Amino acid sequence: MEIFIDSANIREIEKWLAMGVIDGATTNPSIMYQDSVYDVEAGAKEIATLLDPMPLSVEVTTNDLDEMIRQAEQFHSWAPNIVVKIPQITQDGIPCYGVIHTLESKGIKVNATATLSLGQVMLAAKAGATYISIFTGRVSDEGGNSSEVIMNSVKWLERWQYKSKILVGSIRSVGDILSAAIAGTHILTIPPKFLGKMVDHRYTRDTVKQFVDDARKAARLMDMARSKVATG
Ligand code: E4P
Repeated sequence: MEIFIDSANIREIEKWLAMGVIDGATTNPSIMYQDSVYDVEAGAKEIATLLDPMPLSVEVTTNDLDEMIRQAEQFHSWAPNIVVKIPQITQDGIPCYGVIHTLESKGIKVNATATLSLGQVMLAAKAGATYISIFTGRVSDEGGNSSEVIMNSVKWLERWQYKSKILVGSIRSVGDILSAAIAGTHILTIPPKFLGKMVDHRYTRDTVKQFVDDARKAARLMDMARSKVATG
């Protein structure tokens, strides 16, 4: 399973990349805005260069299907590792599968985003999306069973041997991360805040403290024994 960081914050991306625990990054216009990346081209190029050759998802910002293709071609020209996020449907419910199909046919990788159901997963896979982002938090917001959607999607893709990978985002807790992993997602995209929460544990700190304290005590005893021998 791969782990992406769901962020446009260059410091956080650098930090987690240096630890060797992330395999790519995802953004959306809200994340860019929250992380103060207002110049999308400059921000995307900086992150893509940092991650290269790992993928960075950048989302189109229009409901017009032709304009989506133009934006996608532009994003792709910024860096070869940029994957273009295309929503399943526009805000008026127009399907975007033609856009996904056209871009993938041109060799531009697509992340089919804002996915909330198995039906949408199937159609995005047929259209040829490289990644399909299931929004676990938003599935749960509406009372849906996101683990079931993730598990059924992965099973269906593997059963019929589609190339698309399920990428679970919209994480609201460490519990969401673990549930998606257990449900078999191919990739999780995690905000830095929750990567931090995954790491820390009070009892691990206490355990490490115990070991360091005991090692110091043993070293002190060794020093005392050595100086006794030296002084006869
Ligand atoms: C990631 O690819 C998604 O864009 C992101 O995780 C959505 O999260 P949200 O539902 O909290 O906006």
